[in-house]
Amino acid sequence: MQLQMQTWAEVERYLKSSTIAIMPIGSTEQHGPNGLIGTDALSAEAIAVAVGEAANVMVAPTIAVGMAQHHMAFKGSMTLRPATMIQVIGDYVDSLTHHGFDKFFFVNGHGGNSATIEAAFQEVYTAHTMRGSGNEASVRCRLRNWWQGDKTYKLIKELFGDKDGMHATISEVSVTQHLFPEHIKSAPDMGPPEPFRSRWSDAADYRAKFPDGRIASHPYLATPDAGKKIFDLAVTEIAEEVSAYAKG
Ligand code: NI
Repeated sequence: MQLQMQTWAEVERYLKSSTIAIMPIGSTEQHGPNGLIGTDALSAEAIAVAVGEAANVMVAPTIAVGMAQHHMAFKGSMTLRPATMIQVIGDYVDSLTHHGFDKFFFVNGHGGNSATIEAAFQEVYTAHTMRGSGNEASVRCRLRNWWQGDKTYKLIKELFGDKDGMHATISEVSVTQHLFPEHIKSAPDMGPPEPFRSRWSDAADYRAKFPDGRIASHPYLATPDAGKKIFDLAVTEIAEEVSAYAKG
């Protein structure tokens, strides 16, 4: 159930029985030699939409650009400043709160967003606390990285072990190959990745450490079949969590 596909009257009807929204959030950033720049936004959106169908929950429009300053030395990457992103998340939440939504389940496709999303939640909570609305229950937000469910994580490890890596992972490239088979890229000369040695700071530092964009991953091993298995399990696992969250 996508908000963008409803009429206002349908949303009004939904709000009489439910006040939860799924919020897909991703990033628009390089994903190594064969990964799509939209990987994190496209996968978060597709998983969120499928979860919304399975759990009968409204899915808000995707926040498709995230915190990706460290990828800016690669063409096509886009980023929000953390302060901007906190405001964007706050305005998405406030818009829907205005209509009566009060539970927000964020399906995130980019680990680099996590700290900023959590900071945005604190801004939302602080605004409600400082407004002094007594002890009424107000807005609740939850962050869920799509690949981190117990079962999904176990499946990824079974399929790829440590070769999955940390960025431009085999698993996320596989998921986009399953979703968009017409956009599968070949990168035959990829070879083994730079090993993960240390964290990075700015974009120049990241590019110096990881020249082709990957972090410790072997995404030439990606397949649409593996992507389908991972996608289906992530949807099942997250749909159960969303249903529990809606009741709780
Ligand atoms: Ni990614």
